[in-house]
Amino acid sequence: MFMKVKNICCIGAGYVGGPTMTVIADKCPHIKVNVVDINQNRIDLWNSKDLNFLPIFEPGLDQIVKRCRGKNLFFSTEIEKHIALADMVFISVNTPTKKKGIGAGQASDLKWVEICARQVSKYAVGHTIVIEKSTLPVRTAEVIKTILESQDIQNKKQKTFDVLSNPEFLAEGTAVNDLISPDRVLIGGESDSAIKSLKDIYQNWVPENKILQTNIWSSELAKLTANAFLAQRISSINSIGALCESTGADVREVARAIGTDTRIGSKFLDSGPGFGGSCFKKDILNLVYLSNYFGLPEVANFWEGVVRFNKWHQHRISKLVVKKLFGTVSEKKVAILGFSFKANTNDTRESAAIQICRDLLAEGAELLIHDPKVIEKQIELDLGEQAINNHKNINESDSKVIKSGWEKCDKIDQCFKNVDAALILTEWKEYSEINWELASKSMRHPAWVFDARSIVNPEDVRNANLNLWRVGDGS
Ligand code: UDX
Ligand code: ADP
Repeated sequence: MFMKVKNICCIGAGYVGGPTMTVIADKCPHIKVNVVDINQNRIDLWNSKDLNFLPIFEPGLDQIVKRCRGKNLFFSTEIEKHIALADMVFISVNTPTKKKGIGAGQASDLKWVEICARQVSKYAVGHTIVIEKSTLPVRTAEVIKTILESQDIQNKKQKTFDVLSNPEFLAEGTAVNDLISPDRVLIGGESDSAIKSLKDIYQNWVPENKILQTNIWSSELAKLTANAFLAQRISSINSIGALCESTGADVREVARAIGTDTRIGSKFLDSGPGFGGSCFKKDILNLVYLSNYFGLPEVANFWEGVVRFNKWHQHRISKLVVKKLFGTVSEKKVAILGFSFKANTNDTRESAAIQICRDLLAEGAELLIHDPKVIEKQIELDLGEQAINNHKNINESDSKVIKSGWEKCDKIDQCFKNVDAALILTEWKEYSEINWELASKSMRHPAWVFDARSIVNPEDVRNANLNLWRVGDGS
């Protein structure tokens, strides 16, 4: 029977749950949306009066939060209460790659999803539609369904469930736009009435022809496949970039030339420092695990190559910096411009900057790191161990960190003091507006600019008496 949803509970207030629920609340004022999380600190930040302190930075998000919060959008840690009140529960918790046991390093750890399913099963009242929003391995919906139903039998309570897959395709940095004008909304499931209830929500702002319906496993696999294809495109263009550098071609020209072929298309062809983000690597490794599990090692090897290449490419950039700086960066200062995995987000998960900085620290460089949105604590978490190991910066007597090999600069100008090189790793707009004449005056010469994002004006850099390397530029 079709159920008009009045009350939503979303478990997980992260990069997916937070923005998605904010947009649903905005577009559906008749629905009460409760976003719950076990992390009290994260919830407090979502509730902070000063919108600059929201835990996630996404252009435009703060204004929508301001419009809806306290009206029909609420953030809390009262998980049980809001599950009980909800007609529809979204599961948006993290699903990192397993660190140990079967499938370690490849399969997703479903621990958090399982905990959620058990909680929903225990606290739900009446009929509840459960939506799988996190990216999950194929057939996870079945696991969720089994947990929901088995507990139901145990408790002998009058509760029923439908499970749907509704993967999220938003990209960070453009999340609000992607949610408001999605290319498509994908709903996988068997129950027509449950699908209708979810469709009814999206139809408040998404045209019906953009809402696709598939069986549940196709929906789960489509999400992994979309990310694998996108990641593969980036590894492809980065591989050609490396070839351009050796042959005298320019990857931007090659990308423009192939992008005009409508079968290829022009998007997602920017050569960079290697893809990052929480999804690409994780989802491909999931695909690799699945393929091996189903006895398809050739399929697994094909996709694994994309991830292997990406890692090689990141190391290639750090090696290149060392090579250009006369084969050593030991005790040399290098400015790192950008630490997030892409512009317009404060997320650093799998950021190429992490690997590249670690490599340079291992070579003994001293890094001056700038990023407009990533906080120092996050950089410390990402680089911590490596910096400590390679700079022997532990005071043996009290195990206290006394020097870490890097420091965070709050202003871009502060990064250039006595550095031998500036390495642009994230395409933040402010890095395309740097006054290289001024920067050059602070640097130690001969000095280099390494532009891994192709955002500087080459002439400005060269006119400032600086050497320039641009990714994929062999011209
Ligand atoms: C991705 C998918 O795009 C999104 O649909 C899915 O829901 C989650 O994963 P996201 O990781 O947020 O989104 O960012 P995306 O814009 O896809 O970029 C991923 C990485 O590829 C970034 O490191 C980015 O800098 C890099 N990239 C992207 C390039 O190097 N070149 C490009 O042309 C595009
Ligand atoms: P994503 O990018 O998939 O949104 P995040 O790590 O940003 O991933 O967010 C996932 C959120 O889910 C985190 O804030 C985490 O605290 C929360 N979470 C994980 N497990 C549970 C759980 N059992 N109950 C409630 N929240 C959870």
